[in-house]
Amino acid sequence: MVEAFDAVDIIIAKRDKHELSTEQINWLIDAYTRGFVADEQMSAFAMAVVLNGMNRREIRDFTLAMIASGERMNFSSLSKATTDKHSTGGVGDKITLPLAPLVASYGVAVPQLSGRGLGHTGGTLDKLESIKGWQANISNERMFEILEEVGAVVCAAGSGLAPADKKLYALRDATGTVEAQPLIASSIMSKKIAEGTGALVLDVKYGTGAFMKTKERATELANIMVDLGTDAGVKTAAFITNMNTPLGLAIGNANEVRESVEVLAGGGPADVVELTVALARKMLALAGVEGVDPAENLQNGKAMDSWRQMITAQSGDPDASLPVAKHSNTYYAEADGYISRQDALSFGYAAWRLGAGRARQQDPVIHAAGIDLLVKPGDKVTKGQAIYVMHAEDEAKFARAEESLIGALDISAEWVEPEPIIAAEIG
Ligand code: URA
Repeated sequence: MVEAFDAVDIIIAKRDKHELSTEQINWLIDAYTRGFVADEQMSAFAMAVVLNGMNRREIRDFTLAMIASGERMNFSSLSKATTDKHSTGGVGDKITLPLAPLVASYGVAVPQLSGRGLGHTGGTLDKLESIKGWQANISNERMFEILEEVGAVVCAAGSGLAPADKKLYALRDATGTVEAQPLIASSIMSKKIAEGTGALVLDVKYGTGAFMKTKERATELANIMVDLGTDAGVKTAAFITNMNTPLGLAIGNANEVRESVEVLAGGGPADVVELTVALARKMLALAGVEGVDPAENLQNGKAMDSWRQMITAQSGDPDASLPVAKHSNTYYAEADGYISRQDALSFGYAAWRLGAGRARQQDPVIHAAGIDLLVKPGDKVTKGQAIYVMHAEDEAKFARAEESLIGALDISAEWVEPEPIIAAEIG
């Protein structure tokens, strides 16, 4: 086979800030998926994109090429509209767990193809695997059945969906090239468009615990992704949300399931409830269900019924007790005052070091490990009051987790208004 382009020419073009043609981009992704373009060439290309960016047309072509590298799902045979949510990831972000059954309780289908956690951000599948018997891998046929009967499925994405992204994401992770807007936007949107959802709400996070450190960068990323989705015929909207502080009180896996069940029972932390309800309202509106208040189905038990059906449909036991860690250490306030900062990244790292996250894709996670916060920014505390508890299977893990938390929390004499959870809405 005569190759249409040369990888080195394309790398040099991007290195020298030239715009790439559609043909060059299509060839690069196809040749990389086939193994003709080597990992070291693709790494150099990714670094050139980190440094020099891509314009909107290049990003769209890059996304479409990654979609074309694999299969595309199609839910048009379902009797229900489909709607999905994607979060760019953060600390304590368990929102999918209450959100998917809540939206399904209004008769809309939520096909959530999720991932596992890497580094300090948690993965939805890891959290759900804390539930006895629950299976992340299900066949496409079973997925359709559950969507029809229950409405919500959270499962592992098959290897056929955007395989170019799978290869490229692993490479970016190992080469310091994750944090480029064109690469993040095309990575996320290629998977979501290939997944075949009719509507999509993006939760784009900013702050210390997020990929995008500022609201401005998160907004730019959100705009790129909303345009990509809309151009591909997916009704797409986005929220820009705060990730300077962990979401909710639980950071880990089993404890995040417990907190999600509290939300489904009509309780739970205010920030988790607020974001769950806002995302649900938007997902339902994009799917054509207007004028409902999703908070109602959290209060009247309907979302909980959907949760129980969703867990049972994937062989999980919703009544089984969740794993509890062998060791727990409680930590105390060092002064009187108000919690004015609780740094998401530091708490994310600490939970990771306790065993809640993995350093390599193949590592296991410890479901019972993690952190339970007992206070949130804005809360009044007195010296000696318990403010968080760490959980680990192995006591030796506490020391390194404690190191991550040096300077992670401020107590001020004056009350400081906590930042709002939702900063902006797009679309
Ligand atoms: N999540 C993805 O799927 N891809 C990225 O590039 C970043 C976050």
